[in-house]
Amino acid sequence: MFPELKNDRFLRALLKEPVDTTPVWMMRQAGRYLPEYRTSRATAGDFLSLCKNQDFACEVTLQPLERYELDAAILFSDILTIPDAMGLGLYFETGEGPKFKHTVRSKADVDALPIATTTDLDYVMRAVTTIRKALNGKVPLIGFSGSPWTLATYMVEGGSSKDFRHIKAMMYQTPDVLHALLNKLALSVIDYLNGQIKAGAQAVQIFDTWGGALSGPMYQRFSLMYMKQIMDGLIREHEGKKIPVIMFTKNGGQWLENMAAAGPDALGLDWTTDIAEARARVGESVALQGNIDPCVLYADKDVIEREVALVLEGFGHGSGHVFNLGHGIHQYVNPDHPKFLIDAVHELGRQYHEP
Ligand code: CP3
Repeated sequence: MFPELKNDRFLRALLKEPVDTTPVWMMRQAGRYLPEYRTSRATAGDFLSLCKNQDFACEVTLQPLERYELDAAILFSDILTIPDAMGLGLYFETGEGPKFKHTVRSKADVDALPIATTTDLDYVMRAVTTIRKALNGKVPLIGFSGSPWTLATYMVEGGSSKDFRHIKAMMYQTPDVLHALLNKLALSVIDYLNGQIKAGAQAVQIFDTWGGALSGPMYQRFSLMYMKQIMDGLIREHEGKKIPVIMFTKNGGQWLENMAAAGPDALGLDWTTDIAEARARVGESVALQGNIDPCVLYADKDVIEREVALVLEGFGHGSGHVFNLGHGIHQYVNPDHPKFLIDAVHELGRQYHEP
């Protein structure tokens, strides 16, 4: 149904199979730092219109691949499509990030929420298939979702938050209400990611952006447990090919062993975790993705190359490393700079793999 894959470095590294050099992609690689993205967004009208039209979503997904030798493409969409499909009314106010028309604060609110289905999110499935076809086998396509905990923070707070006061009050005061919400989200995410896999996604990543805001015991109970439920519900092989799963908890460096035990193929690391230490702790059971500080891209070519070399040396020899930023690329990065990073990974990465 789809053209044969020409560059499978990314998938091979996730499965710890031999590669010629270290593969690389960047979280949020399609976005505002690219002038061509800003042009597409102006043409479409706004960000959500880009996501909801498969031709625009495809166009912006491919933009960074035209500039740089990336080893993977990531679906252009957002993690908040699920709460939007549950009826919360997602909108974006310029400069203020995402907002919801309705919040979820009580048992009645949670009981009234439907589980999102792929029918509600058909536009995402259409985008996945359109992008996979347009890639024409150049590199694999990554699908993604937010973690139940991270999605719930936006739904309960009504948008971005610094202190998470409403959701944490709910967690401590009425934990059963939050568990009911997280269970509905986990079921929605399973259906959503399996839908993306059937539509053409060749690997999937779960973004737990706010898991690191929890204490250890609360992380286990309110974030990791639901990611484990998702791991157990995902299609792990499709049309004879393994579908690797990457789990990324920002600021989750303390809990790598617990995360690895939940069953992903790879763990995403932010830059606050030492990659050599992470490999020593969990490198036998999972591949690692990351983890250069995204702010390195504000510096010049020689600094970028020096910092790339440090991360590669930190992971060391052998397969099982996908190079990435420790979090999304910033909007004020000079679009010439990611090329220095990506080319350096490929060039300097060779020495860590057998010829
Ligand atoms: O990586 C990619 O290139 C794929 C696209 C992608 C977007 N959002 C596009 C986007 C992905 C993977 C996401 C995930 C996402 N969305 C996360 C998890 C990843 C992370 O960063 O930890 C979160 C928390 C969101 C929620 C969200 N969406 C926020 C907080 C914002 C505002 C960000 C800001 O800086 O204003 C968005 C909007 C958004 N999602 C943009 C893009 C390109 C910017 C929208 C625009 O103005 O064009």
